[in-house]
Amino acid sequence: MSDVADLEGSTLAAVAAAADLAALDTVRVAALGKAGNVTALMKTLGAMSPEARLVEGPRLNALRDTIAAAIAARKTELEAAALDARLASESLDMTLPVSPGPAGTVHPVSQVMDELAEIFADLGFAVADGPEIEDDWHNFTALNIPESHPARAMHDTFYVAQGEQPAPAGHPAAGGVIRHLLRTHTSPVQIRTMLASPPPIRIIAPGRTYRSDSDATHTPMFHQVEGLVIDRGIHLGHLKWTLETFVKAFFEVDDITLRLRPSYFPFTEPSVEVDVGCSWRGGTLSIGGSESWLEILGSGMVHPRVIAACGLDPDEWQGFAFGCGIDRLAMLKYGMTDLRAFFDGDARWLRHYGFKATDVPTLSGGVGA
Ligand code: DAH
Repeated sequence: MSDVADLEGSTLAAVAAAADLAALDTVRVAALGKAGNVTALMKTLGAMSPEARLVEGPRLNALRDTIAAAIAARKTELEAAALDARLASESLDMTLPVSPGPAGTVHPVSQVMDELAEIFADLGFAVADGPEIEDDWHNFTALNIPESHPARAMHDTFYVAQGEQPAPAGHPAAGGVIRHLLRTHTSPVQIRTMLASPPPIRIIAPGRTYRSDSDATHTPMFHQVEGLVIDRGIHLGHLKWTLETFVKAFFEVDDITLRLRPSYFPFTEPSVEVDVGCSWRGGTLSIGGSESWLEILGSGMVHPRVIAACGLDPDEWQGFAFGCGIDRLAMLKYGMTDLRAFFDGDARWLRHYGFKATDVPTLSGGVGA
């Protein structure tokens, strides 16, 4: 009887005296742990006579519960005290600037690619990509530019040394010889997309392209975005509406006039070159109005031979495609004059023309805001 009372008294005193959570846990283990003294007392119940157990059982259970409750209460107290101490000693000055300050900027080319993805996603287009090291079948042949076609010469192609090999099994050009090259345009992604997934197709494919060319408006590596729609009953009206919607959203100007000029591309029939109307404001030419024209892209209805090369029936499936220089779009929208500076990696240029990483383009916020 006095054993139990003593044990209760001494344990409760130890609980009250525990100065921190670690000390409290030591008390808990000494009393209620596997080898604890309360646990040891509980174990004696097994050897008692039923009459004795009837008396001792409730007493020992009450002892264990009292101690457990005291430990839980002290734990809450100590935790609250520990939190108060942390709150009192730790402080955070929310007005301090971010350190180190934001360093890099988003390159205008990446920014424009993000803007394009945002605008076209709203129209139901997915983003597709393809390899930069292509083969001549995807880059030319499947796009209706056969071996002897003058367009091959016009593309100033970089061929890969020793890149010539018999088309491997499963390659769409099977049986022939393929030559590897750096893709001269993003149009081969049209081919890869049509081969990989059944229509309807709505994609844009932004990416790097290469041609052996260099001056203030041409660099050996540059960026294009390709657009492709394949479905039933597609016509030039769909193309014109899509391009108008894109150009309005991209330049953030409602007063947009497009001029479609008949042109020629081997992979489209009919083919059009698209000019955007612009006008002089305060000595500079800006997008909108129709005083003057700037060519912005090439497009047309996908040639039936291209559709057939991808294993689709051109009587059932039609589509339109367009291809546009991303660097040029960036220059027109953000006012750079020399394309070469895009690729110099000059930190001053990047700070001036770059974008904050946190300014993600959104249609509601204005894509280029
Ligand atoms: N691939 C063409 C080029 O690099 C651009 C182009 C024109 C792409 C018309 C198209 C298109 O998809 O329909 O010059």
